[in-house]
Amino acid sequence: MNIGIIGSGGREHSICFKLRKSKKINNLYCIPGNAGTAEISENLNVNYNDFNELYKIVIKKNIDLLIIGPEEPLVNGIVDFFEKKKIKVFGPSKKASRLEGSKAFMKKLCRDFDIPTARSKEIKSSNNIQNILKNFKLPIVVKSDGLAAGKGVTICKSKEKAIRDIKEILRGKFKSSKKVIVEEFLSGKEASYFVITDGKNYFPIGTAQDHKRIGEKDTGPNTGGMGAYSPSKLITRDVENKIKKKIIEPTLRGLSKKGCPYKGILYAGLMIENSNPKLIEYNIRFGDPECQIIMMRLKNDLLDLIEASIYKKLKRKKITWTNEKAITIVAASKGYPGNYKKFKEIKNIKKIKLNKKKQLFHASTIKKNNKYFSSGGRVLNSTVLNKNLKVARSQALKILDNLDWENKYYRRDIGYQVIDK
Ligand code: AMP
Ligand code: GLY
Repeated sequence: MNIGIIGSGGREHSICFKLRKSKKINNLYCIPGNAGTAEISENLNVNYNDFNELYKIVIKKNIDLLIIGPEEPLVNGIVDFFEKKKIKVFGPSKKASRLEGSKAFMKKLCRDFDIPTARSKEIKSSNNIQNILKNFKLPIVVKSDGLAAGKGVTICKSKEKAIRDIKEILRGKFKSSKKVIVEEFLSGKEASYFVITDGKNYFPIGTAQDHKRIGEKDTGPNTGGMGAYSPSKLITRDVENKIKKKIIEPTLRGLSKKGCPYKGILYAGLMIENSNPKLIEYNIRFGDPECQIIMMRLKNDLLDLIEASIYKKLKRKKITWTNEKAITIVAASKGYPGNYKKFKEIKNIKKIKLNKKKQLFHASTIKKNNKYFSSGGRVLNSTVLNKNLKVARSQALKILDNLDWENKYYRRDIGYQVIDK
């Protein structure tokens, strides 16, 4: 089979890495990919948000199946587009993608199917904001309805700040949103839970702890994710049962009832307090960098699982994991998520020794004249598998410490809640 992977981050590099082990694959393409994916697949420089352009290359390269990494094309209906063209695609339909594309949709689903989540209210105009806020205690969480590249949520310590943020969104701060969701603040600890589903049957496909803040001990502004480890210690068997029964299963049933059964990867962002999980948000794809650690731990042939999801045959599958733990540490350009310099050479990257248990997944990298350069905020993911998470972290740090790249920044404390306590 010929496979096309849509995206260009560490997530997509790790999916390529995993798929490379599958015997069923002839040609692997990454669209558009990065300098890392170019080494194990062929990069195709096409704007994946232009579905007609993408279709042309899919035909030209005889691609049998597309795997969609990021949320944007999913929310824009890439799956519906290619299914109409009789090309197989792994991911949810446009309607089902509203789970991530519209927080109002996700919240309504939770209300309709009794899924535990933060109490919330939708705001569409600036007329009665004050009245609505009367029913919320501080801090108040303000969210834009649509996609906002991780910047759509603020936690407001005063009503004045909440009102300012709400008005900004209503005035069009994010093109994707004309609505605002305000919700109660949930306390507890966050964890990520992933399932693969064919709409009816599903399997857990990993748990993880993400570290979203730029600074050590979770300080400073939010980022796309600075590191993660798997499995999550917070998700005990008891908690997992609750996640399945109270959150995942009613969601899948609910979406089927609404006429948009879900297929693909479903990522639940959870807040867990006193062993009670509540849904913070849904993502309709693998997390980045969580995918990188899941790809290292998963033993199954990934293509086999993806095909089972597409052909609705997941029920017959069994998922197997290595007993080892995995950690990934993101190396970013200094200054990220604010301003940073691009096109800094990563001089000795090819000299770094990697193996089955140690990988350096690329995110924003490009190769020119046989040299490697950073080309964005999050640049590399040092990813290590080991029985002991502390050992895994020191090995992952060593890889990054050894990189000759003047502009690197990374957190040394990924996993501190479980490693350094
Ligand atoms: P979201 O984009 O909805 O995942 O929100 C981004 C981050 O904001 C989450 O990972 C949480 O850290 C935080 N957050 C969102 N909603 C809440 C909430 N209701 N209570 C507490 N923290 C929240
Ligand atoms: N790491 C968070 C995300 O992928 O949304």
